[in-house]
Amino acid sequence: MQEEYYFYEPKLGHGLKHDPINAIVGPRAIGWIGTKSSSGTLNLAPYSFFNLFNYRPPIIAFSSLGYKDSLRNVMETGVFTWNLVSRDLAEQMNLSSIEQAVPEFEFAGLTPLDARNVDAPRVGESLVSFECRLTQHLRLQDINETELDTWMVFGEVIGVHIAPSCLVEGVYNTSHAQPVLRGGGAGDYFTITEAAKFVLRRPK
Ligand SMILES: Cc1cc2nc3c(=O)[nH]c(=O)nc-3n(C[C@H](O)[C@H](O)[C@H](O)COP(=O)(O)O)c2cc1C
Repeated sequence: MQEEYYFYEPKLGHGLKHDPINAIVGPRAIGWIGTKSSSGTLNLAPYSFFNLFNYRPPIIAFSSLGYKDSLRNVMETGVFTWNLVSRDLAEQMNLSSIEQAVPEFEFAGLTPLDARNVDAPRVGESLVSFECRLTQHLRLQDINETELDTWMVFGEVIGVHIAPSCLVEGVYNTSHAQPVLRGGGAGDYFTITEAAKFVLRRPK
């Protein structure tokens, strides 16, 4: 017989020390989003409500809890970059999440580089960057159709920069960069190494 599971209804509270939701749906890749405001101010911020949602063309999305600067800039300019956070960039990524109005690239000691085909900065230290154009945005709502202060931004990846070290015999090696992945709690993160890899092929 199955042991009794802990059950809760999120609307009524989880009753635990930390909300388990983002520890359960984790670890999540981080959307390190580079944008430029219409007046030319550079912006960089991490978003762990982030993922890849289509293969061809590649479409990624991140979710802004509140109408934050990254979202505002994307809505104004229609473009953004995504930048890979590798293990050695974890501290800088964290610094770039500062909520005060400071220039995040400088504050975190990072180099803004021009992208090729979009007017948004990419992170010079990142091993991979995407250049993205806004395709859709969506305001989330709950089961009562009440609009939430949460916004999803979808972008088509129209350019991909990959450092040569990530390509091993012409194949992109996921673990090489030791991508930083967000878990739950106040500040849990994970990374991956080649030892964690296993291979499964889909049934035919
Ligand atoms: C690892 C990490 C992940 C985060 N994920 C999100 C997220 O998914 N959505 C969000 O709204 N804020 C997230 N934040 C907080 C934002 O980075 C923070 O509010 C930032 O100041 C927003 O910057 P902006 O206003 O320049 O866009 C995250 C912070 C960290 C450190």
